[in-house]
Amino acid sequence: MWPLAPFTLFSTLLLLVTAAPTPKWLDGAEACSHIAQQTLNDPRDVVACLKSFPFREDFRQNVLAVAETAINFHTFETISLNAPPPFEDSTINLRAEFDRIRHQQYDTDYDFNVDLFFTVNRLQDGHTTWNPRCYVDVFQNMLPIPLVSLERKTLAEEPKQESIYVIPDADEFFATFLNGSFTRYYMARGIDIKRYAGAEVLSIEGQDPYAYVRKIADEYTGDFLDDGIRQSMAYASYRYIGGKWGQRIGDFAGPTVPTYTKHEIEVTLIPRGAQESETVKFPYVSTLIGKTFTDQASYWENNCAPTSRTNGVDYKLYMTPLVVPLTGNETTNVSSSLVDSATVLMERRAFAGLPDLNVRKEAIDLPPAFVPSTLNMSGSDAVTYFTMLPNTSVGVMVIGSFAPLDLYAWQQTVLDGINGLKSQGAEHLVIDVTNNGGGYVCDGLWLHRLLAGPSVDVNEGFEAAIRVNDLVEDMVLADMELAKSYNFSDIEPLYYSPGWKSVNGTKFGVQENFLYPLQNLSINGVPDTFSRRHANACSPFHVDPDVPTEIPFDHSKILVIGNGICASTCSAFTTLMQELHGVKIVNFGAAKGAHSGMIGGEVVEWRGLDSEFKTANLKTHPLAGPELLVNANFRINWRATYSYRKPDTFNSYNVAVADYSFPYTEETWNRPQAVWTFVAKEIFGVKIAA
Ligand SMILES: *[C@@H]1O[C@H](CO)[C@@H](O)[C@H](O)[C@H]1NC(C)=O
Ligand SMILES: *[C@@H]1O[C@H](CO)[C@@H](O)[C@H](O)[C@H]1NC(C)=O
Ligand SMILES: *[C@@H]1O[C@H](CO)[C@@H](O)[C@H](O)[C@H]1NC(C)=O
Ligand SMILES: *[C@@H]1O[C@H](CO)[C@@H](O)[C@H](O)[C@H]1NC(C)=O
Ligand SMILES: *[C@@H]1O[C@H](CO)[C@@H](O)[C@H](O)[C@H]1NC(C)=O
Ligand SMILES: *[C@@H]1O[C@H](CO)[C@@H](O)[C@H](O)[C@H]1NC(C)=O
Ligand SMILES: *[C@@H]1O[C@H](CO)[C@@H](O)[C@H](O)[C@H]1NC(C)=O
Ligand SMILES: *[C@@H]1O[C@H](CO)[C@@H](O)[C@H](O)[C@H]1NC(C)=O
Repeated sequence: MWPLAPFTLFSTLLLLVTAAPTPKWLDGAEACSHIAQQTLNDPRDVVACLKSFPFREDFRQNVLAVAETAINFHTFETISLNAPPPFEDSTINLRAEFDRIRHQQYDTDYDFNVDLFFTVNRLQDGHTTWNPRCYVDVFQNMLPIPLVSLERKTLAEEPKQESIYVIPDADEFFATFLNGSFTRYYMARGIDIKRYAGAEVLSIEGQDPYAYVRKIADEYTGDFLDDGIRQSMAYASYRYIGGKWGQRIGDFAGPTVPTYTKHEIEVTLIPRGAQESETVKFPYVSTLIGKTFTDQASYWENNCAPTSRTNGVDYKLYMTPLVVPLTGNETTNVSSSLVDSATVLMERRAFAGLPDLNVRKEAIDLPPAFVPSTLNMSGSDAVTYFTMLPNTSVGVMVIGSFAPLDLYAWQQTVLDGINGLKSQGAEHLVIDVTNNGGGYVCDGLWLHRLLAGPSVDVNEGFEAAIRVNDLVEDMVLADMELAKSYNFSDIEPLYYSPGWKSVNGTKFGVQENFLYPLQNLSINGVPDTFSRRHANACSPFHVDPDVPTEIPFDHSKILVIGNGICASTCSAFTTLMQELHGVKIVNFGAAKGAHSGMIGGEVVEWRGLDSEFKTANLKTHPLAGPELLVNANFRINWRATYSYRKPDTFNSYNVAVADYSFPYTEETWNRPQAVWTFVAKEIFGVKIAA
């Protein structure tokens, strides 16, 4: 995944995609033409358009063939057959579900895709998802009342109780959204967003609001095994992304995908300063986030037909031939395509994270009153923010994501940032990972090495194995052979041995097979084959002059803070800091127990997997599956990380617990600087000038 890079150069070079025949439209296609005309829509009209595409047996067969192909490489298929408590709800037999879906009757293509989407979503693992872009990435449904759970300051009793509120900044938050047309849409329907900003919510659809939030977290959110983290996802909160302070709207108010088909929601609330409660029906509004279109045919063409990025490419087209010239099978001008090898290379680096969280469309700038007044220091960039709390010895490092624009340059950036804090006299370090969706494994591993110091084994907590089948074995052998003709170190395909290290820290040789000896496991009573345990080839790191030989901060003077939403690479990093080095973790908001999730491994997208087949010249192998005929993605967990506490088990269900948990208050919610100041005072015991 490469969420932020421009792909403009790249798109001209790709292999031909077999165009799927244009579907025959159902009657009622006017819905698509109707919604094409306006910015804000009634979700019922949007769903009418989405449901106007008839069910297609050929698409079902194609999609299920791709799903089954992908699952052969997914590390947790057999583990998911029997999930341990308290995660029993994520138990699922994917093969049996695919069989069910193969025989089920569907009226529309949408119904088929929604079933598959929610079936895979039941795994509650953001590493493993079916993403039919045609239906989940074109429109989003939103509400003008994002929620947050705050401590009630009016109550004297201890422990203080929390209530759910509409975010206090709802009016400022939406004021500039879609040039104010969002606010005007509601005003025209008699709903003044300002009136409900900060209102206390008494019930939602006749239910206790916390029960309703749990319902959203259980039925829609997916991504995290821990229900506390999923509830945190329902609420609005701040984040740092794209070099700016933004605000997530949260999964309650949007962007729920159109598969969430309510068109209005009844909420009872007490507006700020009012004595009486009101019951209001808030309509959802559906806004376009996909490509524009004019009618049903162009909706399909622009949003549903496969693109040059749907299926894989032959990486050899981007590699330098060594001695042997190209085989002649390739169709592209290789010398010009080399321009893009950097893009391909970045795209294929080990990635563990939630791309959705890194780029989710709802990021709206944090209103100015909430933005820290601190100065951004050296080392600050699109995903990282370094600062000092004024007149203190407390340095702050915000890591909004582990997916920087350049994964290698970031290693130096972070080192500069840490050195900058030290030179300003920092003795304490607050690491803020609020809403961090994860990212490049080597960047997480590097940050751990930097803070843990030279005595650690850099691969500790990152050792892993991959799932093996006949095609995997063939691909490794093919790549070994092809490496005689191409410089594979330009790109390092996933199945190329020197892309990995032995657990003793030595890179595998070109002619060494990193899979063997295989591990013949039995998981939940099912035989399952994995590669040998191996490590990431992240070091030597990309820093100059050298990796520091000293620990920059005493571990007792580091705190990691967040809201539970810290996925994958972020989770691996924070969990290691806590469990290996005793660094304390502080949670704010709903996720009272778990501080992070999705620790279990690394992802590969369908496109990446398909590229491996093509690069190894094995696209015709019986296990390689067809090209996807629709604009969609099946992502899987491709590499499973071992627990360092229970060294022989995969980390799939490890949920680590925060050392301290605090509710947000009206003072700390959405104010990063107030949160840093709070922990500096309460936990470090540092004096802060008023
Ligand atoms: C919003 O307003 C700006 C400046 O007034 C304009 O350039 C832009 O096209 C508008 N965007 C939309 C979506 O209307
Ligand atoms: C080239 O194509 C031929 C015929 O399809 C095939 O036998 C051969 O394996 C291909 N070679 C490579 C390197 O792709
Ligand atoms: C390949 O691309 C290069 C650079 O754009 C160009 O000079 C060359 O003529 C092209 N060769 C062929 C065979 O198209
Ligand atoms: C700090 O922020 C300002 C304004 O956003 C920006 O121009 C500057 O480049 C940033 N400095 C660093 C070191 O990131
Ligand atoms: C292969 O590429 C790498 C990285 O670009 C380079 O360092 C190495 O020298 C190349 N090897 C050969 C044999 O050309
Ligand atoms: C490290 O492991 C590799 C791969 O198993 C092996 O070839 C090499 O001899 C080992 N090196 C040492 C120093 O043990
Ligand atoms: C695992 O199974 C394979 C094939 O079934 C066999 O070749 C191999 O020796 C077995 N490995 C171990 C460690 O038992
Ligand atoms: C920090 O100290 C300086 C002078 O020592 C003072 O002018 C400034 O107001 C202080 N800032 C804060 C936030 O206390």
